[in-house]
Amino acid sequence: MSLVIRPEAERDRQAVRGVNRAAFGTTAEADLVDALREGGQVAVSLVAESNGRLVGHILFSGLLIVADPATVDAVSLAPMAVLPSHQRQGIGCQLVEAGLRACRERGDRIVLVLGHPEFYRRFGFSAPLAEPLASPFGGGEAWMALELEPGALHGIAGRVEYPPPFAALG
Ligand SMILES: CC(C)(COP(=O)(O)OP(=O)(O)OC[C@H]1O[C@@H](n2cnc3c(N)ncnc32)[C@H](O)[C@@H]1OP(=O)(O)O)[C@@H](O)C(=O)NCCC(=O)NCCS
Repeated sequence: MSLVIRPEAERDRQAVRGVNRAAFGTTAEADLVDALREGGQVAVSLVAESNGRLVGHILFSGLLIVADPATVDAVSLAPMAVLPSHQRQGIGCQLVEAGLRACRERGDRIVLVLGHPEFYRRFGFSAPLAEPLASPFGGGEAWMALELEPGALHGIAGRVEYPPPFAALG
């Protein structure tokens, strides 16, 4: 299988919708991607292409940690999706690794995710690190943070504000 990970292009929009719909079994995440794009809130959006077919997608958007004394910029990893027929072949891992590299290159320092703990832990995401950050979605051990710059979260406690389109996920 020849796999290419590359930035999303305009021509990919329908296929990105299709991958999200198929992976999540609902249109909620596909709608979220469209709304974030429309709102100009996308930080990084990458696709995985296998033999010319779009089989995976990952998106990062900017969010704020409202902390005392200052608000801190971070990015949210959400959503990410791999076509059911292509899961458990390492595509998701490659998307996360490429996505985190792209965030680092942009200068992002903190990444937050609400997702499968066993999947995200392997990239260094940590639930204890996210504990001082209140998420509107709760999450317990699924609520995790990663410092792209060591110590970026040191001493920071506060409330996380997602871009408005996330409110529709409720
Ligand atoms: C989660 C997802 C993106 C992973 O993509 P993938 O290409 O299958 O992932 P990879 O093949 O790179 O990695 C597989 C690993 O992911 C983990 N994993 C995959 N799906 C998982 C799930 N539903 N729950 C927990 N862990 C999962 C497994 O631990 C697996 O590890 P293993 O190979 O050691 O068994 C994909 O399963 C998916 O699209 N799921 C539906 C949508 C979703 O849940 N998105 C993520 C929201 S946080």
